[in-house]
Amino acid sequence: MNEGEGLQLDDEGRLRHFLTIEGLNRQTLLDILDTAESFISIGEREIKKVPLLRGKTVVNLFFEASTRTRTTFEIAAKRLSADVINFNVGISATNKGETLLDTINSLEAMHTDLFIVRHSDSGAAYLIARYLPPHVRIINAGDGRHAHPTQAMLDTFTIRRYKGDFTQLKVAIVGDILHSRVARSLIHALNILGVPEIRVIAPKTLLPTAVEKLGVHTFHDMSQGLEGVDVVVMLRLQRERMHGALIPSAQEYFNLFGLTRDKLAAAKDDVIVMHPGPMNRGLEIDSSIADGPRSVILPQVTNGIAVRMAVMALIMGGQTARNRRPV
Ligand code: NCD
Repeated sequence: MNEGEGLQLDDEGRLRHFLTIEGLNRQTLLDILDTAESFISIGEREIKKVPLLRGKTVVNLFFEASTRTRTTFEIAAKRLSADVINFNVGISATNKGETLLDTINSLEAMHTDLFIVRHSDSGAAYLIARYLPPHVRIINAGDGRHAHPTQAMLDTFTIRRYKGDFTQLKVAIVGDILHSRVARSLIHALNILGVPEIRVIAPKTLLPTAVEKLGVHTFHDMSQGLEGVDVVVMLRLQRERMHGALIPSAQEYFNLFGLTRDKLAAAKDDVIVMHPGPMNRGLEIDSSIADGPRSVILPQVTNGIAVRMAVMALIMGGQTARNRRPV
C-alpha cells in the first residue's frame, strides 16, 4: 500500500500525516529522531510541559487494545500542552452499530485538530486521512498487520541512543514477522537509515511470502541468525491474528525461537535486546533476558514519549530540531 506516501506529505515534502514509514526519505526520519532527542530532557524536568500544542485538541481513537502506545501518546500530547480526549471504543456508540466515518464526523464536529488512530483493519488510518479536511491531522498508531510508524521511530531512536550510528549494524528481528506491523515498519526504517544487514529469524509459517523483497536476509535457526548481531528485536506471537496452527506448541516454539541466555551468546557481547511489548515471558523471551543487563525494553517505552512528541510537533507545527526555538 503506497498511497500513504502521497497522502502524508504536503507539496513541499513536509509531513502532514504520519501513516507509514514507506516512501519517507532519510532526512525526514533523522528530523524526527533529532527532534525527539531535544524532547528527552523535558521528561526529566520537574515541570514536564512545553506550550507547543497549547489550544489544540488531540483525540486518541483506539479501536484495539493498547497499553503502552495509547498512554505514551496521551502523555506526549499533554507534555506539549494539548487537550487530550481518550475515545474508548468499548463504551462508544461505534459499539452500537455506528460506522467508523459517522464516529469520525462527530468527533471532527468537536473541532479536533489531530486524531491518533489504532484499528485492526489495515488502511483504517488512511481512510480517515482521505476523508477528513486536510487541516485535521492523522497519526497511525497501528493498522492491522500493515504499519506502526511511531513504533519504528521509537525503536530506531533507541538503537541510535545505544549504538550511535546505523551504518555498521547487524539487526535481527525474531518471531512472528507474518502478523507484525512492528516488523514491517521497522524494516522500512532500518533500510532508509542505512542499516547494512537486517535479518529476520522465524519459522517458515510465520514469514510473509517474498519477505526478502523488503530487504532482509531470512534465517530459520537462532544460532545462525543471531551470530554477531548488535541488536535483537523480539516480537510477540500474535495469536489473536492466527488462524490455524502456525506453531507446533508453545514449548517447542520457545525451544526453537525463544530468546534465552544460551541463544543470545551467539550475538555480540554488547548486543541490545528490544521488544515492543506486550511480552509473552517464557514463550518468545525468557525472563532472565527480558529483565537482564542487555535488555532495553523499558527505555523503549520511555523513549516512545519523546518520539511521539516529536512526530506530533512536526506534523502540527512544522517544528524540527533544526528550526525550533529553545524550549
Ligand atoms: C505492538 C502492536 O500493537 O502492534 N505493540 C505495541 O504497539 N507496543 C506489538 C504487539 O501487539 O505485539
